Amino acid sequence: MSKIAIIIGSTRPGRNGEAVARWVHENASQRSDVEYELVDLKDWDLPHLDEALPAAAGQYAGEHTKAWAAKIAEFDGFIFVTPEYNHGTSGALKNAIDYVGAEWYNKAAGFVSYGVFGGARAVEHLRLVLSQLQVATVSAHVGLSLAHDFENWQLKPTEQQTAALTPLFDQVESWSAALKTVREAAAEEDEDEAA
Ligand SMILES: Cc1cc2nc3c(=O)[nH]c(=O)nc-3n(C[C@H](O)[C@H](O)[C@H](O)COP(=O)(O)O)c2cc1C
Repeated sequence: MSKIAIIIGSTRPGRNGEAVARWVHENASQRSDVEYELVDLKDWDLPHLDEALPAAAGQYAGEHTKAWAAKIAEFDGFIFVTPEYNHGTSGALKNAIDYVGAEWYNKAAGFVSYGVFGGARAVEHLRLVLSQLQVATVSAHVGLSLAHDFENWQLKPTEQQTAALTPLFDQVESWSAALKTVREAAAEEDEDEAA
Protein backbone atom coordinates (compact mmCIF):
# COMPACT_ATOMS: atom_id res chain seq x y z
CA MET A 1 0.00 0.00 0.00
CA SER A 2 1.36 3.43 -0.92
CA LYS A 3 2.03 5.92 1.82
CA ILE A 4 1.64 9.61 1.04
CA ALA A 5 2.63 12.54 3.26
CA ILE A 6 0.62 15.74 3.43
CA ILE A 7 3.31 18.23 4.41
CA ILE A 8 2.25 21.44 6.17
CA GLY A 9 4.60 24.01 4.67
CA SER A 10 4.06 26.96 7.01
CA THR A 11 5.08 27.31 10.64
CA ARG A 12 4.11 30.80 11.75
CA PRO A 13 1.68 31.42 14.66
CA GLY A 14 -1.84 31.86 13.31
CA ARG A 15 -0.98 30.15 10.01
CA ASN A 16 -3.75 29.16 7.61
CA GLY A 17 -1.68 26.18 6.47
CA GLU A 18 -2.79 23.89 9.26
CA ALA A 19 -6.52 24.25 8.48
CA VAL A 20 -5.82 23.74 4.77
CA ALA A 21 -3.75 20.61 5.43
CA ARG A 22 -6.39 19.19 7.81
CA TRP A 23 -9.04 19.70 5.11
CA VAL A 24 -6.81 17.89 2.59
CA HIS A 25 -6.17 15.08 5.08
CA GLU A 26 -9.85 14.71 5.96
CA ASN A 27 -10.71 14.23 2.28
CA ALA A 28 -7.68 12.03 1.59
CA SER A 29 -8.56 9.74 4.49
CA GLN A 30 -11.79 8.75 2.73
CA ARG A 31 -9.75 7.10 -0.05
CA SER A 32 -9.08 3.39 0.09
CA ASP A 33 -5.87 1.43 -0.40
CA VAL A 34 -3.57 4.41 0.28
CA GLU A 35 -2.36 5.71 3.62
CA TYR A 36 -2.14 9.48 4.08
CA GLU A 37 -0.24 11.05 6.98
CA LEU A 38 0.01 14.69 8.06
CA VAL A 39 3.61 15.86 8.50
CA ASP A 40 3.82 19.22 10.25
CA LEU A 41 7.10 21.12 9.80
CA LYS A 42 6.35 22.84 13.10
CA ASP A 43 6.77 19.52 14.93
CA TRP A 44 10.17 18.98 13.29
CA ASP A 45 11.58 22.38 14.16
CA LEU A 46 14.53 21.97 11.79
CA PRO A 47 17.22 24.66 12.23
CA HIS A 48 18.48 26.57 9.20
CA LEU A 49 20.41 23.98 7.21
CA ASP A 50 23.41 23.04 9.34
CA GLU A 51 24.88 20.08 7.45
CA ALA A 52 28.48 20.50 6.22
CA LEU A 53 27.95 18.29 3.15
CA PRO A 54 25.23 18.74 0.54
CA ALA A 55 22.33 16.32 0.89
CA ALA A 56 23.26 14.63 -2.40
CA ALA A 57 26.32 13.17 -0.62
CA GLY A 58 23.94 11.16 1.57
CA GLN A 59 26.11 11.53 4.68
CA TYR A 60 23.95 13.20 7.27
CA ALA A 61 25.69 14.33 10.48
CA GLY A 62 22.89 15.79 12.62
CA GLU A 63 20.47 13.64 14.57
CA HIS A 64 17.65 15.95 13.40
CA THR A 65 18.70 15.37 9.77
CA LYS A 66 18.81 11.59 10.23
CA ALA A 67 15.36 11.63 11.84
CA TRP A 68 13.91 13.86 9.07
CA ALA A 69 15.50 11.64 6.39
CA ALA A 70 13.98 8.54 8.00
CA LYS A 71 10.55 10.20 8.05
CA ILE A 72 10.71 11.26 4.37
CA ALA A 73 12.00 7.79 3.40
CA GLU A 74 8.74 6.27 4.70
CA PHE A 75 6.70 7.84 1.89
CA ASP A 76 6.04 7.01 -1.76
CA GLY A 77 4.63 10.44 -2.53
CA PHE A 78 3.82 13.84 -1.14
CA ILE A 79 1.19 16.52 -1.16
CA PHE A 80 2.82 19.82 -0.27
CA VAL A 81 0.47 22.33 1.34
CA THR A 82 2.20 25.60 0.61
CA PRO A 83 1.55 29.25 1.30
CA GLU A 84 2.74 31.88 -1.14
CA TYR A 85 5.32 34.16 0.49
CA ASN A 86 6.70 36.86 -1.80
CA HIS A 87 5.87 34.84 -4.92
CA GLY A 88 7.64 31.73 -3.68
CA THR A 89 7.12 28.98 -1.12
CA SER A 90 7.96 29.43 2.56
CA GLY A 91 11.55 29.50 3.79
CA ALA A 92 10.68 26.73 6.26
CA LEU A 93 9.52 24.39 3.49
CA LYS A 94 12.48 25.14 1.21
CA ASN A 95 14.82 24.50 4.14
CA ALA A 96 13.13 21.18 4.97
CA ILE A 97 13.39 20.11 1.33
CA ASP A 98 17.09 21.04 1.14
CA TYR A 99 17.96 18.93 4.19
CA VAL A 100 17.78 15.53 2.46
CA GLY A 101 18.37 14.11 -1.01
CA ALA A 102 17.87 10.45 -1.90
CA GLU A 103 14.80 10.23 0.33
CA TRP A 104 12.95 12.44 -2.21
CA TYR A 105 14.26 10.80 -5.40
CA ASN A 106 11.88 9.02 -7.79
CA LYS A 107 8.75 9.89 -5.88
CA ALA A 108 5.65 11.82 -6.90
CA ALA A 109 4.25 15.09 -5.57
CA GLY A 110 1.21 17.30 -5.90
CA PHE A 111 0.33 20.66 -4.41
CA VAL A 112 -2.38 22.47 -2.53
CA SER A 113 -1.54 26.15 -2.32
CA TYR A 114 -3.26 29.25 -1.01
CA GLY A 115 -2.74 32.95 -1.42
CA VAL A 116 -4.24 36.10 -2.88
CA PHE A 117 -4.18 34.51 -6.34
CA GLY A 118 -4.35 30.89 -5.17
CA GLY A 119 -0.64 30.56 -4.47
CA ALA A 120 0.19 29.41 -8.01
CA ARG A 121 3.59 31.12 -8.00
CA ALA A 122 4.66 29.17 -4.90
CA VAL A 123 3.74 25.96 -6.73
CA GLU A 124 5.77 26.88 -9.81
CA HIS A 125 8.70 27.65 -7.51
CA LEU A 126 8.36 24.25 -5.85
CA ARG A 127 8.14 22.44 -9.19
CA LEU A 128 11.55 23.87 -10.14
CA VAL A 129 13.12 22.95 -6.81
CA LEU A 130 11.68 19.43 -6.79
CA SER A 131 12.73 18.69 -10.36
CA GLN A 132 16.35 18.89 -9.15
CA LEU A 133 15.45 16.25 -6.56
CA GLN A 134 13.96 13.89 -9.16
CA VAL A 135 10.45 14.33 -7.84
CA ALA A 136 7.76 13.93 -10.48
CA THR A 137 5.20 16.68 -9.94
CA VAL A 138 1.65 16.05 -11.18
CA SER A 139 -0.27 18.63 -13.14
CA ALA A 140 -3.47 18.64 -11.04
CA HIS A 141 -3.25 21.44 -8.49
CA VAL A 142 -5.66 22.92 -5.98
CA GLY A 143 -5.16 26.64 -5.43
CA LEU A 144 -7.25 28.23 -2.70
CA SER A 145 -8.04 31.91 -2.90
CA LEU A 146 -7.79 33.95 0.29
CA ALA A 147 -10.75 35.96 -1.06
CA HIS A 148 -13.13 33.15 -2.10
CA ASP A 149 -12.16 30.10 -0.04
CA PHE A 150 -11.81 31.83 3.34
CA GLU A 151 -14.34 33.81 5.39
CA ASN A 152 -13.00 36.06 8.14
CA TRP A 153 -9.68 34.23 7.72
CA GLN A 154 -11.36 30.86 8.38
CA LEU A 155 -11.10 28.21 5.69
CA LYS A 156 -14.42 27.73 3.84
CA PRO A 157 -13.48 25.99 0.60
CA THR A 158 -16.04 26.00 -2.21
CA GLU A 159 -17.53 22.69 -3.37
CA GLN A 160 -15.51 23.03 -6.59
CA GLN A 161 -12.27 23.13 -4.59
CA THR A 162 -13.21 20.01 -2.64
CA ALA A 163 -14.07 18.28 -5.92
CA ALA A 164 -10.73 19.38 -7.36
CA LEU A 165 -8.92 17.33 -4.71
CA THR A 166 -10.02 14.10 -6.43
CA PRO A 167 -7.89 14.41 -9.60
CA LEU A 168 -5.00 15.57 -7.42
CA PHE A 169 -5.23 12.46 -5.23
CA ASP A 170 -5.73 10.26 -8.33
CA GLN A 171 -2.59 11.57 -10.02
CA VAL A 172 -0.34 11.53 -6.95
CA GLU A 173 -1.49 8.01 -6.05
CA SER A 174 -0.94 6.61 -9.54
CA TRP A 175 2.50 8.17 -10.04
CA SER A 176 3.57 7.24 -6.50
CA ALA A 177 2.75 3.61 -7.23
CA ALA A 178 4.30 3.66 -10.72
CA LEU A 179 7.59 5.11 -9.50
CA LYS A 180 8.09 2.22 -7.07
CA THR A 181 9.50 0.27 -10.04
CA VAL A 182 12.07 3.02 -10.65
CA ARG A 183 13.06 3.11 -6.98
CA GLU A 184 13.45 -0.67 -6.87
CA ALA A 185 15.66 -0.62 -10.00
CA ALA A 186 17.78 2.19 -8.51
CA ALA A 187 18.16 0.26 -5.23
CA GLU A 188 19.27 -2.85 -7.16
CA GLU A 189 21.87 -0.80 -9.06
CA ASP A 190 23.19 0.60 -5.76
CA GLU A 191 23.48 -2.96 -4.37
CA ASP A 192 25.37 -4.14 -7.49
CA GLU A 193 27.77 -1.20 -7.23
CA ALA A 194 28.40 -1.90 -3.55
CA ALA A 195 29.07 -5.65 -4.18
C1 LIG B 1 5.96 36.96 4.40
C2 LIG B 1 4.67 36.90 3.64
C3 LIG B 1 4.67 37.16 2.28
C4 LIG B 1 3.49 37.03 1.54
N1 LIG B 1 3.54 37.20 0.19
C5 LIG B 1 2.46 36.88 -0.54
C6 LIG B 1 2.54 36.84 -1.96
O1 LIG B 1 3.56 37.12 -2.57
N2 LIG B 1 1.44 36.50 -2.65
C7 LIG B 1 0.26 36.16 -2.03
O2 LIG B 1 -0.69 35.81 -2.72
N3 LIG B 1 0.14 36.19 -0.69
C8 LIG B 1 1.21 36.54 0.07
N4 LIG B 1 1.13 36.57 1.44
C9 LIG B 1 -0.17 36.25 2.06
C10 LIG B 1 -0.22 34.76 2.39
O3 LIG B 1 -0.49 33.99 1.25
C11 LIG B 1 -1.25 34.48 3.47
O4 LIG B 1 -0.94 35.28 4.59
C12 LIG B 1 -1.25 33.02 3.87
O5 LIG B 1 -2.24 32.80 4.85
C13 LIG B 1 0.10 32.59 4.43
O6 LIG B 1 0.15 31.26 4.81
P1 LIG B 1 0.16 30.83 6.37
O7 LIG B 1 -1.03 31.54 7.00
O8 LIG B 1 0.01 29.36 6.37
O9 LIG B 1 1.46 31.32 6.93
C14 LIG B 1 2.28 36.70 2.19
C15 LIG B 1 2.27 36.51 3.60
C16 LIG B 1 3.45 36.58 4.30
C17 LIG B 1 3.43 36.28 5.78
